[in-house]
This record gives sequence, C-alpha cells and structure tokens, in this order.
Amino acid sequence: MSSSQFTSSIYLFTFALLLQTILGASPLYHACSSSQNFTSNGPYESNLKKLLSYLHYKTPPQGFGLGSVGKFVQFQTHGLALCRGDANSTECKTCVNEASNEIRKRCPYNEGAIIWYDNCLLKYSNKDFFGQIDNEVRFFLFNVRNASEPEVFNQKTRDLLSQLAKEASVVPKMYAVGEVELGEWTKVYGYAQCTRDLSSMNCFKCLENAIGELPTCCDGKEGGRVIGGSCNIRYEIYPFFSA
Ligand SMILES: *[C@@H]1O[C@H](CO)[C@@H](O)[C@H](O)[C@H]1NC(C)=O
Ligand SMILES: *[C@@H]1O[C@H](CO)[C@@H](O)[C@H](O)[C@H]1NC(C)=O
Ligand SMILES: *[C@@H]1O[C@H](CO)[C@@H](O)[C@H](O)[C@H]1NC(C)=O
Repeated sequence: MSSSQFTSSIYLFTFALLLQTILGASPLYHACSSSQNFTSNGPYESNLKKLLSYLHYKTPPQGFGLGSVGKFVQFQTHGLALCRGDANSTECKTCVNEASNEIRKRCPYNEGAIIWYDNCLLKYSNKDFFGQIDNEVRFFLFNVRNASEPEVFNQKTRDLLSQLAKEASVVPKMYAVGEVELGEWTKVYGYAQCTRDLSSMNCFKCLENAIGELPTCCDGKEGGRVIGGSCNIRYEIYPFFSA
C-alpha cells in the first residue's frame, strides 16, 4: 500500500498535466508479483509476449481486452488491459503500448505484474484471475486541499459514488460518471469503473469496498482516488472526464 499526494494547487496540477502530456505519461504505480519468476527466453516469456501483443490490438476499440495464452498450464499467462472509460481509442492504444513496455522493464522476470496510468491499467498473472476481485494492491491519491465543510462534503461525495457504483455495475462498460451540487457555487464530480471480467455483483462489491476506503484515504479532501486491480473510484471539485 502506498499513497502519494496531488499538488495543492489546481494551477500547479494543470501545469503538471501539461508537462506530462509533453514528456509522455509516467505510471501512477506498479507492482511485481513475488510468487514466481520465469527464465529468460523460456516458454512463459514467449506466451507473455503473445499475450501483450494480443492486448495491444484487442483493447483500444472497446477500451478493454482480456486473454490467456499457453497450451500447458504451467506456462500459461492470463492478462487484461482496461482504459479510462472516457479515453478514445488513440489514447487507449498509446497507454496500453506504454504500459506493456514499461511493465516488462520494471518486472522483467515476474510471472505476474500490474501497472497503472491515468489512462489505463494493465496486468497479467500465471493464475487465472478472471472474475475475481483483486485485493492485492490498492493505492490512494488525494488533493491536499481540505473541503470547507468536510462533513457535508464527505456525505455528498459518498452518496454520489455509491450511486455511480450501482450504475457502473449494471452497464456493459462497467463505468459511470456523474456530478452533484455542493452548495451554490461548487459541484463534486465522480467516476467509478470496474474491469469487465467481473460479474455485476463483484463489480458492485469492489466499488463499495473502495468507497469504504474514503475515510482512510481522503477524509474531507477536495479530491481523491482509490485505485485497485479490479476497480477504481475518483472524485474532484472540477470536471476531470469528458462527457
Ligand atoms: C524472483 O526474483 C526476485 C528478484 O530477482 C527475487 O527477489 C525473488 O525472490 C524471486 N522469487 C522467486 C519465487 O524465486
Ligand atoms: C483522442 O483524444 C485526444 C485528446 O483529447 C485528441 O487529441 C484526439 O484528437 C482524439 N482522437 C480521436 C481519434 O478522437
Ligand atoms: C487539512 O487539514 C488537516 C487536518 O485538519 C491539516 O493537518 C492540513 O494541514 C490541512 N491542509 C491544508 C492544505 O490546509
């Protein structure tokens, strides 16, 4: 578990985003699984390469791809890639390409690994994990600014995200965005998304768990994200998704 902080000023944040666009995105976080290592140029690596190139072409059109490669169980690899619900296919493709190159550098011999970017998530494992909620790694990001009325703010944010969890779990893209008024001048914007291998029930469960982390991660903060291997939520006081 790790947490990192968003810059306190939206101007700074926007500037950082601009820089990121120019320099190329860097991962939010990654984790190499410690369970098994494969040998260089062996059958597992060859299956993994096939899986990653399959995910390259499979993911961008729908924003999600999933596959398994390998005849023999001991060398089989299973993986998926998921793009932000509002990313277009070009952004999705760029992110998945970047993610698969970067994860191979960061976890060169691990049979399982996961990497997150703003625009996508990519993971693989020697175990067939499809349909199961991934509780292994979860991390938080938050805006250091405090809401002026934290109790009202927390409650409204929670209600919004709970509503989005319900919506996301019943639509094919397993993704929902929305907003709620917060007094006269401000709104809270929210986002909820699951990997599409999950059942509707597991998607809802995963998102509810993530919402349950809000007091730990982002109590009274003006923006926050709970990000895991099967679902993620985010809220901000400015719009951060395209319609
Ligand atoms: C895999 O490799 C890493 C790094 O070289 C090492 O720390 C770890 O113990 C290895 N795991 C196994 C199961 O051999
Ligand atoms: C995808 O989105 C990016 C950034 O918003 C934009 O520059 C690009 O033109 C879009 N591409 C397509 C094919 O819509
Ligand atoms: C937000 O509130 C916390 C706890 O009350 C405080 O420690 C922190 O300094 C505040 N942050 C800002 C940016 O005002």
